[in-house]
Amino acid sequence: MNENNNNDKIFPKSFFWGASTAGHQVEGGLQDQWTLWEQAHAKELAQTAHQRQADEIPFWSNVKDAAEDPDNYISGRGVEHFKRYKEDFDIVKQLNMNAFRFSIEWSRLEPKEGKWDEAAIEHYRKYIAELRARRIEPFANLWHWTLPVWFEEMGGFKKRSNVKYFERFVQKVAEELTEDLTFIITLNEPNVFTTFGYTIGEWPPQEKNLISAVKVYFNLIHAHKRAYKILKKRKPMLQVGIAQQLANIQAKRPHNFFDQLSTKIMRYYWNWWFSNRIRNQQDFLGINYYFSDYYTGLFKRVNPKVPLSDVGWYMEPEGLYPLLLRSWAHFRKPIYITENGLADAQDEYRRWWIEESIVAMQRALSEGVDLRGYLHWSLLDNFEWKYGWWPKYGLVGVNREHHMKRTIRASAKWFAARIKQINKA
Ligand code: BGC
Repeated sequence: MNENNNNDKIFPKSFFWGASTAGHQVEGGLQDQWTLWEQAHAKELAQTAHQRQADEIPFWSNVKDAAEDPDNYISGRGVEHFKRYKEDFDIVKQLNMNAFRFSIEWSRLEPKEGKWDEAAIEHYRKYIAELRARRIEPFANLWHWTLPVWFEEMGGFKKRSNVKYFERFVQKVAEELTEDLTFIITLNEPNVFTTFGYTIGEWPPQEKNLISAVKVYFNLIHAHKRAYKILKKRKPMLQVGIAQQLANIQAKRPHNFFDQLSTKIMRYYWNWWFSNRIRNQQDFLGINYYFSDYYTGLFKRVNPKVPLSDVGWYMEPEGLYPLLLRSWAHFRKPIYITENGLADAQDEYRRWWIEESIVAMQRALSEGVDLRGYLHWSLLDNFEWKYGWWPKYGLVGVNREHHMKRTIRASAKWFAARIKQINKA
């Protein structure tokens, strides 16, 4: 390892190095609105995979068989993280990490309206205790897009009057599960959920209705504000925020009027609009960063063709740097990178990606950005929503055909050594 140790000193000793997950993508055995949708649509998703995805996936022939198999679209047993969480936390430890992000699944706590499942509450209590026992800081997320079926049947977040049910869930979590927590993320990527579920309509509930999208967006703002209040009232020391999906949005031709205009508008709506509305109700900023997007003319996205991740996203890890600067300039709140990673089955780019991300963080820290943690997406290979199982985001590979065997990828071993080196600097 020939990195310059001087630059490493810039990371505060209290810096959190970790990985992220989300319940629906790894736990297995869930019964939420997304599970039902998968069961109803798996066949159709397999049949239309070619037409929907062949053009955007760089190596379609490698993934074709998986993408055209209906089983690919069923989250099912997940990677059995629900059962194997202790083993997984041991891996986190082995990777020299001191932080871990997960979600508390509402559909487990309240499978039927108003009826709490005590065993599920106990599960998450133990889960948090097992993290603490290993000196791993838990970052608990209260909503990663999945909802109890009864809530979705009532209209989900489309109805303002439904927010009270979310509040009741948050109140329950506040009472039962926050004793051992410091960090809570209330919502994951409201912009992505609203866009794909209600504007583009590819994800459940596939509404494709702009009015519904606007309602959901505003109701999520309301939901976050209420959750913030409930959590802070119960435990004022809690650090509460959201995980926002931010894109490094740039003008293709920096001096072109239209390219600039499109870029400014996209940045405002995609990156800042939601966070601006909850400015006074967030203790930190959670950033999920995956890609850069270049705009030209009127909202035309024209990205370079290499390097692309396995799902065809243009990869520019250093794009994290301008985002960190801007986030700090906008909000002046502590920042945690709550997700950052790539789909890379061959583990070809992951090490490079992490190396570049570390440099981007060092640069931001050197300019006074109050960055306090980095959580890689993801610890484990996981169920990738509309793509299903074939994209591989894990630092740790999981063989679902072979007893869910976990294998630490080479890039993750390198990352673990790098964390150790940084901590020693
Ligand atoms: C989501 C994750 C997802 C990742 C990669 C993020 O936007 O929060 O759930 O796995 O993107 O697609």
